[in-house]
Order: sequence, then structure tokens, then C-alpha cells
Amino acid sequence: MRLRLIGIGPGGPDDLTVAAVAALESVDVFLVADKARGVDDLVSVREQILRRHTTGQYRTIVVPDPPRDRMPERYGTEVRDWHAARAEAYEEVLRSNVEDDETVGFLVWGDPSLYDSTIRVVERIRDRGVLDIDYDVIPGVSSISLLAARHRLVFNRIGGPVTITTGRRLGAEAASGADNIVVMLDGRLACRELDDDWDIWWGANLGTSDEELVAGRLGDVLDAIDVARTRAKAARGWVMDTYLLRRAG
Ligand SMILES: C[S@@+](CC[C@H](N)C(=O)[O-])C[C@H]1O[C@@H](n2cnc3c(N)ncnc32)[C@H](O)[C@@H]1O
Repeated sequence: MRLRLIGIGPGGPDDLTVAAVAALESVDVFLVADKARGVDDLVSVREQILRRHTTGQYRTIVVPDPPRDRMPERYGTEVRDWHAARAEAYEEVLRSNVEDDETVGFLVWGDPSLYDSTIRVVERIRDRGVLDIDYDVIPGVSSISLLAARHRLVFNRIGGPVTITTGRRLGAEAASGADNIVVMLDGRLACRELDDDWDIWWGANLGTSDEELVAGRLGDVLDAIDVARTRAKAARGWVMDTYLLRRAG
């Protein structure tokens, strides 16, 4: 059985590569995780992408996502348990609904290499040895690529490093000296807790018709970010945001 992990960009139907579009066309069955969080728009974004870029000769199977504690005491252990549960759920669906000669597609938000579990989950399925599977990965436009493009940014200073991290880790990274930091997965704007010696380039719901952009000295623009965040959430029912922080000077 062939699995294809296809990066579909961060929300806009135009932000797919030509290779991703060709890969979508090769798929017989799409497996879609049902996150049961009531974010219908995220499902409809994926459907819109399929309608726009395929001729419709495919089946879609929705797989209920195993429940997950988002604020666990031991984050790594909890995530690994969740990957195992997800691998079992997918394996069961593949065993009972997909023929050996069919191609299965996973629509991966943004790019599969950044804060996404699909590669790890598929490797778990392969390692369990029940199914004979092969898989490939088709890169996508990441939300942070779109952030950089919209603000016309180069993430690194000349020859310098870039730290990519989560809101959860931001304080620790800044304290350890990182001064050029891309932040993802930050539902509570952790940058609020930094001193004012930073510039920020922020974006939400990038790629959608309701995207929001704010840039400036951190302390000066935090209120504007709050307002823009609320507007993005009201427009679509969800908000995802990411930003570059760079120590000023
Ligand atoms: C689970 S990660 C997935 C990242 C994805 N693989 C990528 O390459 O963008 C989700 C995080 O990505 C960022 N993100 C995803 N889509 C976004 C969008 N359309 N606009 C802004 N940030 C986005 C946010 O930081 C969000 O919390």
C-alpha cells in the first residue's frame, strides 16, 4: 500500500506546489482526522483544495482522532501515547477499507516537516509490521514561509541562526540567548511576557482571505495584535498565528 503525505499549505487554496497538485491526483483514498473540535472551516478549507485541484475520483475516510490532553504534566509522554493511539486508529481503517494496490493520501497542513505528527504516525504504522506500506512526503508551503513572504523578511541575519520554537518554549529560548526567534503554536501570545527590547513581525490565518498582519516594536503593537487576532477568529471561527521576534538593534 502506498501512502502519500502531501503538504497543502497553510489555508489558501493557491498555496500548493505543482508537485502537491500532481500528488493529489494520484490518490484513491484520503484519510482525514476528525478532530471533533467543531472547526468546520478547517475541514471545508481541505475540501475546497480538493475541489479546486482534483477531478474528484477519490474516496474520503474520516478517522476519529483519539482524545488528547493538551496541557499534560509530561508533554513528551502524552504526545507519544497520542501518536501510538493515532497509528492504531489509522492502521485499523487502512486494513479494513483500503486495497493493497490503492494509494492513500494525507493532507498535511502547511509543510509536514514543522510541528506535524503525520510522518511519525506513519512510521509507527510501518514499524508495527501489520501492513506492507511505503510512503513519500511532498513538501508544502509552511505558514512561516508565508509569514516571511508577506512581511518581505529574511528570517536570518546575514550568516546568523534562526530559532524555531513554540509559545511554550519562548521564554526559555529568549533567556538562553536566542535573539532571532520564529514562534508557532502559541495560543496565548507568550511574547507578552518578554521585555520591550524586541521587534515583531506577526501574521494570522495566513493564506486565507481573512489574513491579518502586524509589525513593529513589541510593546507598541501588542494591543493591535490582540485586536487583529480577535478579528481573525471572528471571521473564520479559528485563528492560527505565527511570528518572528528579533532583539532590537
Ligand atoms: C500544528 S502546527 C502546524 C504547522 C504546519 N505544519 C506549517 O508548516 O505551517 C500549527 C501552527 O502553525 C502555525 N500556522 C498554521 N497555519 C497558519 C496560518 N494559516 N497562519 C498563521 N499561522 C499558521 C500556527 O503557529 C499554528 O499554531
